Amino acid sequence: MIGTPRTLDAFSRMIKNYLLSDQWKYAGVKKIEDIKIEHLMPCLECHLPQTKFATDDVAVEIAKAAVNGDLNTLSKLSINCLVCHHDKAIIHQWVDGPPEDNVIYGNKSGKHEGVSYYSMIKKSPVLQESIFCGQCHGLGPGFHYPNPVHCAMLYGSYLNAYIPSGGTKTCQDCHMEKGHFMSAYSDSDMAKKAVRVDVETLAYYFHPKAFEWTPLAVVTVRMTCNAGHRIPDG
Ligand code: HEC
Ligand code: HEC
Ligand code: HEC
Ligand code: HEC
Repeated sequence: MIGTPRTLDAFSRMIKNYLLSDQWKYAGVKKIEDIKIEHLMPCLECHLPQTKFATDDVAVEIAKAAVNGDLNTLSKLSINCLVCHHDKAIIHQWVDGPPEDNVIYGNKSGKHEGVSYYSMIKKSPVLQESIFCGQCHGLGPGFHYPNPVHCAMLYGSYLNAYIPSGGTKTCQDCHMEKGHFMSAYSDSDMAKKAVRVDVETLAYYFHPKAFEWTPLAVVTVRMTCNAGHRIPDG
């Protein structure tokens, strides 16, 4: 939930300047105690998806912590292993069934040694696919909410621009070379890969009339985005 400090700041502004002000006057929130899970889901659907299982008391607690910048409480809230290796590990639940109680989803099946709960491992059909990341990396505004907002839309760009122009890599191919670190611009190796810059120059003299030579240059710069989507996003 904290992510970069900018995330916490934006989230507390969403509560103070929108929900608790006249900006979202039809949201039914007059004071912080009125905040319900449904008011937070338009952000937390991706930033802390497990919130959907929480009660409205928890919504008030999260809202208060965000407004007060209570890092102690908020640092306990994160996209943890279970979000990806359980809740989000099956997308087509009519085909594959919903995630099962006792099961962790990975790339292979077997026993999950040394634990009393989640004692089975099963293969997730989507863990290595881009659609898995697409669940949170966004297609566009969240039209399924009464008051849509949009944030990350990079999966839309991947599907509609990168793939149609012949792109073949998955999100995991590019972002999980260093495992779960899932590096982007904050990793200098990744930042270097982002854009290819080709520069060609031609120097010449412009000679409009006798005894007048003006030195000039033609500079052609081609910048190619190597990411599997437009940058920046979010
Ligand atoms: C449960 C939702 C969720 C899933 C699934 C998910 N992400 Fe993210 N991801 C996020 C959120 C939220 C952030 C932003 C965190 C912040 O800054 O507060 C993020 C941030 C990132 C970043 C930026 C890190 C940085 O340096 O700032 C990368 C890269 C990334 N995710 C890649 C992936 C890839 C690849 C996958 C699939 C293997 C994936 N994500 C799956 C929610 C998700
Ligand atoms: C944002 C989503 C995300 C989170 C959070 C996450 N993982 Fe993963 N994990 C993945 C993906 C995607 C893969 C598969 C990568 C691949 O094979 O290309 C993976 C692979 C793994 C594997 C290898 C599985 C196998 O069968 O090969 C292990 C083990 C693992 N994760 C453990 C963890 C643990 C422990 C945590 C919590 C500390 C965690 N993961 C949190 C997305 C996530
Ligand atoms: C062909 C390789 C490639 C593919 C495929 C790819 N990315 Fe990236 N992505 C990059 C590179 C390189 C950057 C670094 C850009 C930078 O330095 O700002 C990046 C940046 C990002 C960022 C940071 C966004 C920002 O505002 O700078 C996120 C988040 C991200 N990718 C997630 C994803 C997800 C999710 C997918 C799959 C839907 C994906 N990427 C597919 C190469 C790729
Ligand atoms: C569709 C899923 C989704 C929704 C809904 C969503 N976010 Fe995000 N958000 C992300 C992901 C993924 C990232 C990081 C990757 C990126 O920037 O592309 C991100 C990045 C951010 C960042 C930038 C962090 C940084 O330092 O660059 C802020 C701030 C943020 N979100 C706040 C919000 C707020 C506030 C809401 C609700 C009004 C919200 N988000 C709704 C998925 C989402």
